[in-house]
Amino acid sequence: MASHLEWFALLAILMAHSSHLIPVKSEAAASAFSRTISPESLGLRREKLTHLHFYFHDIVSGPNATAVNVAQASNRPSPTDFGAVFVIDDLLTEGPSPKSRPVGRAQGIYASASQTEVALLMALNFVFTAGKYNGSTLSVLGWNSIFRGVRELPVLGGSGLFRFARGYAQARTVTLNLTTKDAIVEYNIYFFHY
Ligand SMILES: *[C@@H]1O[C@H](CO)[C@@H](O)[C@H](O)[C@H]1NC(C)=O
Ligand SMILES: *[C@@H]1O[C@H](CO)[C@@H](O)[C@H](O)[C@H]1NC(C)=O
Ligand SMILES: *[C@@H]1O[C@H](CO)[C@@H](O)[C@H](O)[C@H]1NC(C)=O
Repeated sequence: MASHLEWFALLAILMAHSSHLIPVKSEAAASAFSRTISPESLGLRREKLTHLHFYFHDIVSGPNATAVNVAQASNRPSPTDFGAVFVIDDLLTEGPSPKSRPVGRAQGIYASASQTEVALLMALNFVFTAGKYNGSTLSVLGWNSIFRGVRELPVLGGSGLFRFARGYAQARTVTLNLTTKDAIVEYNIYFFHY
């Protein structure tokens, strides 16, 4: 039978050769995945509240459509177009005219998601191009019941100058052509960011 000393020696040799297999619990290992940092270390100082106002041009008809119908429930006729999915790259402008100053694009998806009214699930990025906001984005996910006066959609986040954004967007239809389905929608967005 081996003495205690021999067992210790054997254990020491085993540990020396297999130390890379033994889970090591150290601060260094923990901080590699997750750590607490100060807001200042990311240059974050005071939170600001910003209001953006612009017009959204949803062109569904004609050769220059910026909203394309990529899917629909062909076997299930519905007065609300339930199941229709559109991908959009809609122009955003400063004024209601499509010829007014461009400020960005609305890129994303909307889907007709109600069987009782025309209500869209909107999943969009507002990608801004104007001035200092060029390249900054806001992400919106919400319910848009298009025949209601004012629809409110949550702003879930943002990028660039709009990092850490949270707030809401209000959408009001300015014009809707019921034949072509083309629409101009006014957006007011209120959100906190740094
Ligand atoms: C589509 O866009 C082209 C290029 O900008 C323009 O010349 C044409 O008039 C537009 N067509 C319509 C129907 O708006
Ligand atoms: C926005 O930034 C892009 C890339 O840097 C640049 O090509 C473009 O001209 C800028 N647009 C405006 C309106 O400043
Ligand atoms: C809707 O669009 C059609 C086709 O372009 C046009 O003839 C009609 O005048 C438009 N209706 C309104 C109210 O603008």
